[in-house]
Amino acid sequence: MKIGIDKIGFYTPHIYVDMNNLAVARNVEPEKFTIGIGQSKMAIAPITQDSVTLAANAALEIITDEDREKIDYVIFGSESGIDHSKSGAVYVHQLLGLKANARAVEVKQACYGATAGIQMAKGHIALNPESKVLVLGTDIARYGLNTGGESTQGAGAVAMIISANPSIMELENHNVYLTNDIMDFWRPIYSDTAFVDGKFSNEQYILFFNKVWESYKEKSGLTLADMEAICYHLPYTKMGLKALRTVLEETSEEVRTRLLENYELSTTYNRNVGNIYTGSLYLSLLSLLEQKEDLQDGARIGLYSYGSGAVGEFFTGVLQPNYRDHLKIDAHKQLFNMRKEVSVAEYEEIFEETLPKDGANIELNISKDPATICLAGVMDGKRQYVNKLS
Ligand code: COA
Repeated sequence: MKIGIDKIGFYTPHIYVDMNNLAVARNVEPEKFTIGIGQSKMAIAPITQDSVTLAANAALEIITDEDREKIDYVIFGSESGIDHSKSGAVYVHQLLGLKANARAVEVKQACYGATAGIQMAKGHIALNPESKVLVLGTDIARYGLNTGGESTQGAGAVAMIISANPSIMELENHNVYLTNDIMDFWRPIYSDTAFVDGKFSNEQYILFFNKVWESYKEKSGLTLADMEAICYHLPYTKMGLKALRTVLEETSEEVRTRLLENYELSTTYNRNVGNIYTGSLYLSLLSLLEQKEDLQDGARIGLYSYGSGAVGEFFTGVLQPNYRDHLKIDAHKQLFNMRKEVSVAEYEEIFEETLPKDGANIELNISKDPATICLAGVMDGKRQYVNKLS
C-alpha cells in the first residue's frame, strides 16, 4: 500500500520586513543577508497569530468535509507551543471542526517535530488504511532584536494530510535517522527567544546530513543520480546549499547541475518567509513542487530533516500522477502578493508586543489581521481563538 502526502497547505502572516532594510538598520552590508545568509524577506507574526492560529490557517485551505470525516489523528509539530501541558493539536482540532473520534497530540524535537509526526502518521495509516492524519509544522522563529540569529527569524505553518493512495507524494521506506545529545540550539522554559551556537549548529547540520546520506545510500542502493532534487530543512537558504555542496563530487556534471538548479527553486518560498522551524523542510518541498513546472510524475525527491539538539533524518518521496492538480499554486501566489511590508521600526514594535507574562487578561484587536483564524485575547489564562467564518 502506498502511504504519503495527499494534500499540503501553507500559511504565513500578512506582514514582513525587507532584509535590505534590516541590514541597513543593523549596520551590516545588505549582501550579507541577501547572499551570505540567502534571505530576502522575513515574515513577522503579529500578536494575533501564534503557533495554533498559523497551523489552523494552513490547514483551513486544504480541509474538505470528506477530510473532516476521515481525519482521526492530529499531530502538531512545533517548538513554539503555547502551553506546557495541553497540546496545540486539540485547539486546531476544534477550530477546524474535526470529528470527536480522533487523537490530538503535540510532538517536540526542535525543527524535526513535523517529520516525527509524518513518520507516526505513516504507522497509523498502515494499521488504519481508511483514515487520514493531519500533520502540522508550525512555528514563530524568535532569536531577539539585534542578535546573531535575528536575520534567520520567520513565521508560518505547513499542514499536510497523510493518507493511503496519496495524491501528491508517496513516501518511501528507506528512512535513515540519527540522534546525538548536543547543545547547538535550544530554548529554556523561561525564555521566549532561542539560544543558538550558530557555527556549531551549522557544522552539526552538515555532519548529520553526511552521516544519514552515507547510511541511506547503503540501505537503499540509490545514489544522487536517483534524486530529481533534494529538499532541506532551511533555517536560512544558504544552509542547505552548504550541505548539498559537500556531496556533489559524488556525481556527474549533469546531475550536479540538476540538483543545484532544483535547489534554487526549492528555496524560493523560504527566502521570502524566513525560518519556520518545523515547517521549513515542507515549505521547501512546496516551493519546489509549485515553482518547477516541468517536474515529472515519478520523480524521486530527497528530504533532509534536522532538528537541533539533535535529530536528523533522510528519506525520499515519489511524485504521483497528476500531483500538480492537487497543489494550491494560485492561493499561495495570492498569499505572497497580499503581504504588506513594515519598516524596521514597526517590526521592532511588533516583536516586543507580547502577551502578559503574569496571567493578566488581554483583549486583542483582530480587525487588522486578515487571517481567518486569529487569537482574540487571553481570559483567565485561556487563549481566546476566533474563526471569522464561523
Ligand atoms: N556579501 C556576501 N556574503 C557575505 C557578506 C557580504 N557583504 N558578508 C558576510 N557574508 C557571508 C559570510 O561569508 C558567510 O558565508 P559562509 O557561511 O558561506 O561563509 C555568511 O555571509 C554569514 O556570515 P557570518 O559572519 O558567518 O554570519 P553570522 O556570524 O552573523 O552568523 C548564522 C550567521 C546563520 C550562523 C546566524 O545567523 C545564526 O546563528 N542563525 C541561526 C542558525 C540556526 O537557525 N541554527 C539552528 C537550526 S539548524
